Amino acid sequence: IPVDSFDLVIFGGTGDLARRKILPGLFRRYCAGQVPPEAKIIGAARSEMSVEEFREMVRASIEEFGSTPHEPGQLSSFLERVHYEAVDATGDDGWEALKSHLRDDTIRAFYFSVGPSLFGAIAERLRDKGLADAESRIVVEKPFGHDLASAKSLNATLAQHFDETQIYRIDHYLGKETVQNLMAVRFGNMLFEPLWNSQYVDHIQITVAETVGVGGRGSYYDKSGAMRDMVQNHLMQLLCLIAMEPPAKFDPDAVRDEKLKVIRALDPVEPHHMVRGQYAAGGDEEGYRVHVENEKSRTESFVAMRVNISNWRWAGTPFYLRTGKRLRARTSEIAVVFKDAPHSIFGADAGRHRNVLSIRLQPNEGMTLDVTIKEPGPGGMRLVDVPLDMTFADALGPDTEAVPDAYERLIMDVIRGNQTLFMRGDEVEAAWAWTDPIIEGWEARGDVPKPYDPGGPGPEDSLMLLHRDGRRWREIK
Ligand code: BG6
Repeated sequence: IPVDSFDLVIFGGTGDLARRKILPGLFRRYCAGQVPPEAKIIGAARSEMSVEEFREMVRASIEEFGSTPHEPGQLSSFLERVHYEAVDATGDDGWEALKSHLRDDTIRAFYFSVGPSLFGAIAERLRDKGLADAESRIVVEKPFGHDLASAKSLNATLAQHFDETQIYRIDHYLGKETVQNLMAVRFGNMLFEPLWNSQYVDHIQITVAETVGVGGRGSYYDKSGAMRDMVQNHLMQLLCLIAMEPPAKFDPDAVRDEKLKVIRALDPVEPHHMVRGQYAAGGDEEGYRVHVENEKSRTESFVAMRVNISNWRWAGTPFYLRTGKRLRARTSEIAVVFKDAPHSIFGADAGRHRNVLSIRLQPNEGMTLDVTIKEPGPGGMRLVDVPLDMTFADALGPDTEAVPDAYERLIMDVIRGNQTLFMRGDEVEAAWAWTDPIIEGWEARGDVPKPYDPGGPGPEDSLMLLHRDGRRWREIK
């Protein structure tokens, strides 16, 4: 279904995110018939560049980072929708020319794919120079602040020029198909919700493991670390969707109100409930400190923690979170581990069997439910756990291959004016308010992350975090 016609300006239009995600994503939506043929996409950046040069860059980006089967001529007709203006974000140059591209009576969206230090200058000029009006939308990327104070000040700056209903703060995890599916699974089925509480759930694990290191982003990453880069935003969002109360309806504020309540109910994390790690050299690659060119770095590339939610539903059920780079496999999974049956009629020899609902975000998006059954054969009543496995691509057929990537979906939501999958200002602030004391604690204690070998599950201590509680992490595979 096509969205309404729009003019989308991408500040930072020649940058990495635009080239890897935004522009190829828009092309895929165009091929899928969702972007109306008269829509305009206008790149804006500091460098002088002709529109032909910019189109050539867009063509190369699409070819490199995600083409899609398309009719001959579709790429050229898409490129005709693409324009470029050199704009001085902090000065006056280029804004009139940029404005001349924008049509009246058309949705205007402005994507701030630039560092947060430019948010204020761009927001102000969009308003003062008459490019944006009360209907326009702005899209801002992470990192949304570095701590609570900076997030508050960014929110305050944006609020001077735009209403909260016009601000779309992207967390691309919320655009992932399976993340949205989490809500469908929880609130579309009768089966799970009655069991979704501390009476039946022993604990929940959220793992986001990556095989890559910090790559070329060392200077950004070393000032952030896994806590700011992944936990404060992506893992926190997953935790909220898993733990929140059912919203009364699937509407932006109803959903975000419930998520906010979860963040506000988080206990501070005790130091002995956290483990930080930093990857060592291994394979053909150098270790973290070489990658970030800081031999004394104390920034974590891995973090694991036990988090408690102090509310009626979850008191007594810990949530274990872990994320890290250079681990054994690229996998993201949420596992809901149910309690043991209260009594085993099969006797102690039958062993311990637990239902686990595992939701795989990537790769092979899907769900498995481990169920205990009788081991087939004449061997008597022996129990075995087997997975009821649903890989979405198998269950839903080849169409799921056309599932839009997170950015594509989120950009279309911006045009539709649907904020459900975007973070509200108060949510971001609450997440920082929880994160700040953790990071301050590390700094005050001079905490040094534990080195860990690449290609494994992270530091030994992170395994101990669960062992101590009589539990174990699910394998990263
Ligand atoms: C980004 C982080 O937000 O998410 C990166 O800055 C991380 O460090 C990435 O690699 C992971 O995203 P995905 O979609 O590949 O799981």
